[in-house]
Amino acid sequence: MVAPPSPPSTTGAFDTVNAARSRGCGAASRQVAPLRADLRLDAVAARLQGGEKLADAVSAERYPAARSASIRVMRAASSDALYQLLTKRFCSDVADPEFHTIGLARGGGGDALASRGRQVYLGQCLQCHNADPASAGPVGPPVKGASRDLLEAKVLRGEYPPGYTPKRPTKVMPPQPHLAPDIPALAAYLK
Ligand code: HEC
Repeated sequence: MVAPPSPPSTTGAFDTVNAARSRGCGAASRQVAPLRADLRLDAVAARLQGGEKLADAVSAERYPAARSASIRVMRAASSDALYQLLTKRFCSDVADPEFHTIGLARGGGGDALASRGRQVYLGQCLQCHNADPASAGPVGPPVKGASRDLLEAKVLRGEYPPGYTPKRPTKVMPPQPHLAPDIPALAAYLK
C-alpha cells in the first residue's frame, strides 16, 4: 500500500495543475508531462470568463486545438484546496496526457474581457475614434456606452439596431465583419 502523496505547497494555479500532473491522480495514478503556458490560451480563458463558449473562444483566438477542456474554479481558498479540488473532481482533464498547453485567467473576468476589448479598440478603431471613447475622434463620434447590439449592427454590418438614432447621419465607417468574435470584448470595454 502506498500512502497518497501529500499535496505540494504551490504558488499559483499553473504550478498546482502541473504538480497534479507530475504526481498523478485518480485511480490509475500515473505521471504525465507538465503543461506549457500559452498566451493565446490565456486570452481564451479570459473569453470564457466573459461568458463565451469554449469552442467559440478557441476558434476566436485561432488556436489550432484537436481537443480542449476548461475548468472553472470558484473560490479555492488556498493552493492546497485547489490541489484537492483538481485531483479529486477534475483529474481526468488535469492529468490527460493528450493536453500540452494551458491558459489561465483569474478573477474579475469582466476586466480581462474589457482589457482585450481595449486592445481591439486601439488596433481597429483609433484611426477614426478617440483614444478616450467618451470623446469625439478625428473622424468618428464618441462611442462610450455603445451596447453590444449597436456594436454588432454598426461594426459588423454598417447598420444600426431598429429604433436607434445615430449620432451622425453619415455612412463613412466601413463595416468590419471579421471583428464578430471581438464584439463581446468591445462591448465590455466601451460599457
Ligand atoms: C474609417 C473610420 C472609422 C473606423 C476605422 C471606425 N469607425 Fe466607428 N464611426 C466612424 C464614423 C465616421 C461614424 C459616424 C457614422 C458614419 O459615418 O458611419 C462612426 C460611428 C460609430 C458608431 C455609432 C455611434 C452612434 O452612437 O451613432 C459606433 C458604435 C462605432 N463607430 C464604433 C466603432 C468601433 C468599435 C470601431 C472599431 C472596431 C470603429 N467604429 C471603427 C468612423 C470609423
